[in-house]
Amino acid sequence: MGFPVTRLRRLRRSESMRSLVRETELRPSDLIYPVFVVAGSGVREPIHAMPGQHRRSVDLLVQELAPLVDKGLRAVMLFGVVDAKDERGSSATDPEGPVAQACAALGREFPDLVIMTDVCLCGYTSHGHCGIVTDGVIDNDETLEILADMAVTHARAGAHVVAPSDMMDGRVGAIRAALDQAGFTQTAIMAYSAKYASAYYGPFREAAGSAPAFGDRRTYQMDPANRREAIREAALDVEEGADIVMVKPALAYLDVVAAVKEQGTAPVAVYNVSGEYAMIKAAAAQGWIDERAVVLETLTGMKRAGADLILTYHAPDLLDWLT
Ligand code: PBG
Ligand code: ZN
Repeated sequence: MGFPVTRLRRLRRSESMRSLVRETELRPSDLIYPVFVVAGSGVREPIHAMPGQHRRSVDLLVQELAPLVDKGLRAVMLFGVVDAKDERGSSATDPEGPVAQACAALGREFPDLVIMTDVCLCGYTSHGHCGIVTDGVIDNDETLEILADMAVTHARAGAHVVAPSDMMDGRVGAIRAALDQAGFTQTAIMAYSAKYASAYYGPFREAAGSAPAFGDRRTYQMDPANRREAIREAALDVEEGADIVMVKPALAYLDVVAAVKEQGTAPVAVYNVSGEYAMIKAAAAQGWIDERAVVLETLTGMKRAGADLILTYHAPDLLDWLT
C-alpha cells in the first residue's frame, strides 16, 4: 500500500508524536568519559588539540568529576600519563602510579561509578609502541605478561573493568587468566577488539605523550580497509573471555559497528576518538556548525549503528544536554 494511503509524515507531525516512534535514544548511562591522569597534586594542563580536556592530578580529577557524577555519569576510562618511561614500560605496573591512585580515590569518593582503565604500554615505553620491541619488531608474546601484570595492578587498585588497547594477539586470554589467578574473577574485560591504525588518534597522542618514536602501529592495529577481520577479532576476544567488545574509531567505522553487533551477542562499545572530537570542536569554534546538535546527531548515529556504550570526550556536555 503506497501513497496516498501511506503517508509517513503522519508520525512526524509533532515532537510528542516523533518521540513515541523514536527507535534510538541516547542516554547518560550509555556514556563513558575518558580522562587523563598525571602524578602530583593541583595539576590541570589543557590539551591543546582537545579543547575542554585536561591532564589532571588525582585530587583535581576527583573534584571535577563530582558534579558530573551528580548529573548521572556512570563510568570513566582512565589513561595514565607519566614521565618515567623505559624500554619495557616498567612504570605501567607501578601500584603507586597515577592510574592506580586514581582507581583508589575514585572508588572511595564515588561508590557507584564504574572505573575502567586503559591497559596498554605506549604511554609508558620510551619508544612509544604498545608492546615490547625486540630487534625493531613489536614482540607479541613478550608483551602479554606485562599487560597481564598491568591489568592485575589496576584490578588490585579498584578498577572494575580493564580495557586492553594494544591489539596483541592473545592478550584477552592472558589477562583473564591472570585476573582469575589473582582472585579478581569479577573484574570485567572490555577489549578494544577492532582497533584500527587510524590518523584520528593524533590529538590523543599529544595528550598522552604516546606517539611511536619510529615506524607506525600498522603491524598490530587493524587495516582501515577491513571489515570481516573485525568480526574475527571480536569473536576471538569473546572466546578468550572479553565481556564487552569495542570498535574504534567510531565515525568512519559505523559499518563495522553494525557488523560486529550483528555477528555476536556481547555488548558493543564504540570509541568516539580524539580526532573526531577535535574536528567538531574546531568547526564549532569557528561558528561553522551547531556543536550541540552535531554532537547529538553524531552519537545518535553511533547508537543506531549498534553501539551499546560510547566512550566520548563530549560526555560532560552531554550530561547537560540529555536532561
Ligand atoms: C593507546 C590508545 C590510543 C587511544 C586509546 N588508547 C592511541 C593509539 O593507539 O595510538 C586513542 C584514543 C583517542 O584518540 O581518543 N593504545
Ligand atoms: Zn597503546
